[in-house]
Amino acid sequence: MANVAIIGGQWGDEGKGKVVDYLSEFSDATVRYAGGNNAGHTVVVNETKTILHLIPSGVLHPGKTCIIGNGVVIDPKVLLEEMALLRKMGVALGSERFFISDRAHLIMPYHRRIDAAREKAKKTRLGTTGRGIGPAYEDKMARCGFRVSDLLDADRFEERLKSVLREKNAYLRYVLREPGFRYREILEEYLRYGRRLKPYVTDVSRLLHRLMAQRKQILFEGAQGTLLDIDHGTYPYVTSSNAGVGGVLSGCGVGPSCIDEIVGVVKAYTTRVGGGPFPTELRDGPGEYLQREGMEYGATTGRPRRCGWFDAVAARYSVRVNGMTQLALTKLDILTGLDPLKICVGYRIKKKIVSEMPPEHWVLEQAEPVYKSVPGWKQDIREARSLEELPAGAQAYVKTLEDLMGIPFGFVSVGPRRNQSIVLRNPFDGCNRR
Ligand code: GDP
Ligand code: IMO
Ligand code: MG
Repeated sequence: MANVAIIGGQWGDEGKGKVVDYLSEFSDATVRYAGGNNAGHTVVVNETKTILHLIPSGVLHPGKTCIIGNGVVIDPKVLLEEMALLRKMGVALGSERFFISDRAHLIMPYHRRIDAAREKAKKTRLGTTGRGIGPAYEDKMARCGFRVSDLLDADRFEERLKSVLREKNAYLRYVLREPGFRYREILEEYLRYGRRLKPYVTDVSRLLHRLMAQRKQILFEGAQGTLLDIDHGTYPYVTSSNAGVGGVLSGCGVGPSCIDEIVGVVKAYTTRVGGGPFPTELRDGPGEYLQREGMEYGATTGRPRRCGWFDAVAARYSVRVNGMTQLALTKLDILTGLDPLKICVGYRIKKKIVSEMPPEHWVLEQAEPVYKSVPGWKQDIREARSLEELPAGAQAYVKTLEDLMGIPFGFVSVGPRRNQSIVLRNPFDGCNRR
């Protein structure tokens, strides 16, 4: 038996959805533990592409349990729309397989407005997804947020909403110069959501512990990436949650001893959406190639993703702060045709070469990457199903990254589809903890 955490090792969009979908075949339940509908996880099964924002990427495996943990911030409107979309696709999503934490915080309409207004007002924008994520997590920490369970007690919800909204409206009107909200509209809308979500609401920690007692295998699905983590990312150009492994514990109500393998997902190159430092960013030539071939447009906002070479300093940092035990490499096929390939192995900052991420974003902005050049390859690799079937250049690239990361690759993805995968080490195999 084993439980596995899947964590983004870069700035998000590493291909976590694809890896989670693949591994869900071996798990019994998939749990989203952090973030909200800022995430966009793409799963391609046969000819159909599905982008999931809140519901775990294991959902396309019939009958598998899907859970949203307390660490997630839920926009109930978006969640209900996603549930309806999946049902339209023929995905059964009854209350016997889909669960929502009673303790998860809610994204309220004023969170979205505050998020958008702050971005509009800022000179240097963070480039948020505008989904209200930051303001919702702020309220969670400020102890004035609303949780899923609050929707189930109409009288208490009404009373608290009145008082919270007084403050929010004052902030919107007098600080941000935006219109406020009428409490009755929000009240009616959110109580309606509460009635619709009620059948799925549960104590997720208890559910997970019950599943583990039944020797079920759990897959914890990360959103965003370690470099967007509120504590370990490139602050303040980050999201507002613990995207890394710490988020699994606080976001699901499980202890560290419940996680057997921590799989980091890294793209064969680097991308970033939104603002913030990005040492290996390429503004033309190979950068345009990566953007075009990799179809690097945000799965949530459609914004073009900034592209650059693989940054081994940043990825190794992610391995360390999460205690990753193995890596999944994605989008190796996109590098086909580029020659030479470059891998960043250090940063030159004020004439000094460093191999660690500096904590200050303005220092990282000045970092000039120190590159190792390696030969590329020309052959199409999308049909390869073992490392031996890859051309020598691709094999050498994987080996070089593995040496730099210091942990093995268990999975190499050579295309967006489920079967376009080279599996070297299944994290659900070989763990026999119980
Ligand atoms: P996530 O947020 O980490 O789940 O990643 P996204 O879904 O936002 O972005 C990854 C994109 O790459 C999606 O369009 C995937 O379908 C696609 N993808 C994943 N793995 C591969 C791969 O190995 N090769 C190619 N060509 N595309 C891939
Ligand atoms: P997945 O799970 C890539 C980025 C935003 C912005 C910053 C803060 O698909 O990998 P927020 O709306 O969270 O306050 O925005 O974080 N960001 C992501 N970038 N992939 C994501 O999720 C992201 N979620 C947030 O672009 O720079
Ligand atoms: Mg994404």
